[in-house]
Amino acid sequence: MRVVVTGAGGQTGSLVVQQLLERGVDTTAVVRTEGSKQKLAEQLGAQAAKLKIVLADVTDSKTLGTAFAGMDAAVVVTSAMPRLLKSSLLGVILAKVFTLGYVSRKPSFYFDEGQSPEIVDWMGQRDQIDAAKTAGLKHVVLVSSMAGTKPDHFLNTQMDNIVLWKRKAECYLVASGLPYTIIHPGGLLPHFGDRNPAPGGRRQLYVGIDDSLMDDGQNHSSIPRGDVAAVCVASLFEPLAQGRSFDLGAGPEGEPYSLNLKDLLEPLQGANAHYTKEQAEFKGGKKVRTCPCGEQ
Ligand SMILES: NC(=O)c1ccc[n+]([C@@H]2O[C@H](COP(=O)([O-])OP(=O)(O)OC[C@H]3O[C@@H](n4cnc5c(N)ncnc54)[C@H](OP(=O)(O)O)[C@@H]3O)[C@@H](O)[C@H]2O)c1
Repeated sequence: MRVVVTGAGGQTGSLVVQQLLERGVDTTAVVRTEGSKQKLAEQLGAQAAKLKIVLADVTDSKTLGTAFAGMDAAVVVTSAMPRLLKSSLLGVILAKVFTLGYVSRKPSFYFDEGQSPEIVDWMGQRDQIDAAKTAGLKHVVLVSSMAGTKPDHFLNTQMDNIVLWKRKAECYLVASGLPYTIIHPGGLLPHFGDRNPAPGGRRQLYVGIDDSLMDDGQNHSSIPRGDVAAVCVASLFEPLAQGRSFDLGAGPEGEPYSLNLKDLLEPLQGANAHYTKEQAEFKGGKKVRTCPCGEQ
């Protein structure tokens, strides 16, 4: 099997690449910049010798054709990258202090010009799906996110509707006729700024649909990136994973956990995310936020 991984320089994408190489899969990594290419090669060490690394930007569809040509499957892990608007932290702190912790305010984020969720997560994923179709791929695994049914979740209100744009791309993939697996992980571990490692393969995994894991009070809506990567890779080898769209979370860290994708999906009894016409036709409607003070 020849597999192309996009967003391969990212924290989850690089783990997908690593796990594919460990399984001896013929892998092509798509990265956006020379810097990401170098970082990925360093992270993989000797394994990098077996890897083909291609530079492509999903906002430039012309660069995608070469990356997808000759592949059997794709794992799409690209994402618009939110940047913290540092000045918004003041509001977060003041709200906490003046309400003695009763009111919690979320910080604001912005995206680099031309790299908004609409452009990267919707158009960029749509163009990858088109490239996969043109190249005759037999399976596309797409990493999206929980909160796709929650327009009022802070990922949407503070990050230019990022998950709603991702959900629109999912609808496009489902309608494309390509065999697909769509994974909605919850909060990826380690969380931003947390120095503690969160290794994969040490937690019970859980699945749900339509954000049920966020609402069931069981605290299963976070997951180590290594576990998300393992489910992506396992999906390529498990025919039952095709035509599936599900949420993915994990319990607390404990004993080594051996992933069996068929068993993991079993509790869903074949259920998948429900996609609506409104999600497929989502148009945003908000101006893309850019950093007002020029801070990076
Ligand atoms: N963070 C969370 O808690 C969370 C929760 C649920 C779901 N997710 C989703 O899970 C996935 C993996 O998250 P992560 O934090 O591991 O990812 P990440 O480290 O932020 O990686 C994102 C990757 O996308 C690439 N990318 C961005 N814009 C691009 C463009 N225009 N062209 C080509 N590549 C581009 C980046 O390339 P460079 O390396 O060149 O920058 C980077 O490698 C993402 O889809 C994310 O939205 C995240």
